[in-house]
Amino acid sequence: MGKASLFLLGLLALSAVCVYGSDPAAESDEASASLQTDVLTLGVGNFSETVEKHDFIVVDFHAPWCGFCKRLEPEYEKAATQLKENDPPIILAKVNVDAEQNKRLESEFDIKGFPALKIIKNKGQSVQEYKGPMEAEGIVSYLKKISGPPSLELTSAEQAGKFITDHEGSLVIIGVFDKLEGEHYANYLKVADALRSDYEFCHTTDASYIPEDGVPVKTSSVRLIKNFDDKVTVFTDFTVEALTNSIEEARLPYVTEMSKKPEHRPALKKFFESSKTKLFLFLAETPEGDNSQKDLLKTFSELAKAKKSNGLIALFADAEESANALQFFGLAKEDAPASVIRDRKGKEYLFKNAEGSKLSSWVDAYLNGELKEHIKSEAICETNDEPVKDVVARLNGDVVVEAKKNVFLEFYAPWSWYGINCKKIFQIFEELAQQRSQHRNHPTSFKGDSAVVIAKFDATANDVPGDL
Ligand SMILES: *[C@@H]1O[C@H](CO)[C@@H](O)[C@H](O)[C@H]1NC(C)=O
Repeated sequence: MGKASLFLLGLLALSAVCVYGSDPAAESDEASASLQTDVLTLGVGNFSETVEKHDFIVVDFHAPWCGFCKRLEPEYEKAATQLKENDPPIILAKVNVDAEQNKRLESEFDIKGFPALKIIKNKGQSVQEYKGPMEAEGIVSYLKKISGPPSLELTSAEQAGKFITDHEGSLVIIGVFDKLEGEHYANYLKVADALRSDYEFCHTTDASYIPEDGVPVKTSSVRLIKNFDDKVTVFTDFTVEALTNSIEEARLPYVTEMSKKPEHRPALKKFFESSKTKLFLFLAETPEGDNSQKDLLKTFSELAKAKKSNGLIALFADAEESANALQFFGLAKEDAPASVIRDRKGKEYLFKNAEGSKLSSWVDAYLNGELKEHIKSEAICETNDEPVKDVVARLNGDVVVEAKKNVFLEFYAPWSWYGINCKKIFQIFEELAQQRSQHRNHPTSFKGDSAVVIAKFDATANDVPGDL
């Protein structure tokens, strides 16, 4: 995921994670480690050998300074005690990746925030993200489900109907095969195994068990059942890649709603993680009885449906509630209703004070390459003589890329959920800038050192240039 997508995901504060900086709730890890534990402690020396011994092992990559890790610990411990009784046993382990010798594991497993739980299967052959709850009961039931067969075989129409109604709030996927062997079936199971935490997979060899819902059930097909847009989507390409992509694509509604409700999170996460071109609509606040924004949303939704085949995915948000997102695109509340296109490469196009009657032609102009890209930047600072320099998008060339200096640059988001820590990091940067360089040939502070620039960059108010 690119930096920008990370920022966008940050807008949603999707989950409680530590990205960097310390959490006051954290204490020393070692001090509280209990003697009796069902959680295996691993280190770089015994990681591989332990993982190779197990078909299913969960590893908590943690850091002692992370308060969320700390809070997870007793829950994880309780879950470990229950899960070791499972048949076959499910092993829970942890690694302190803050310890110098374990850093290698942190990069090998691409750990970006904490707590990071990974499910490692088939003796280390496959690694999956843990996407379940963070309390003991939730961990136990999630892991039991994940460690079982990836897809349930349906053996009667009654069972099929019950499976679908039982999972009405989720996305149900049904594979219909002529026989439960061969490449199609094997690929289906592979996909089910990889995507099982986001969908409910099942399969059958009898098409007559499956309700039609207006779409005939054919053998050798996979159908996705959802409770929005077209209820049923059918796929017939059985390569692992095609099946994965079609499922992930079909799960996105024509228009995703930006919302803080927990049930909207999976769809939002999928939306922001998608590499497709994104079309946004920020609705303005209107007085009671004014239906202009409702009408605009209707037009936008129809447009989104029509342009899906052009590779666009759409999201709408309330400008008032999504002030941060608005700011991310360099827009003010007065610009709403506003529409934004952000393409695969992160290029952005703005339509301020968007009118429903012009939306469609604006999107067409984008598709025809006729729109001018919007580069977001704060104004260049006139005096930039603080110890820590401010860098903006327009100035990057001078200070960062062309300066041929050693640049230590902090990208930050003033509003981020670890924003408090950003202030702390500003302080550290200030102190660093004031500090005397240790180098013998540079008897000055970093601030006075012509070869060194210490700077910060508000990545919400400026586009991060592609070469950074
Ligand atoms: C693995 O090694 C660490 C030291 O790095 C040790 O504390 C731990 O007990 C070992 N774990 C197992 C399961 O052998």
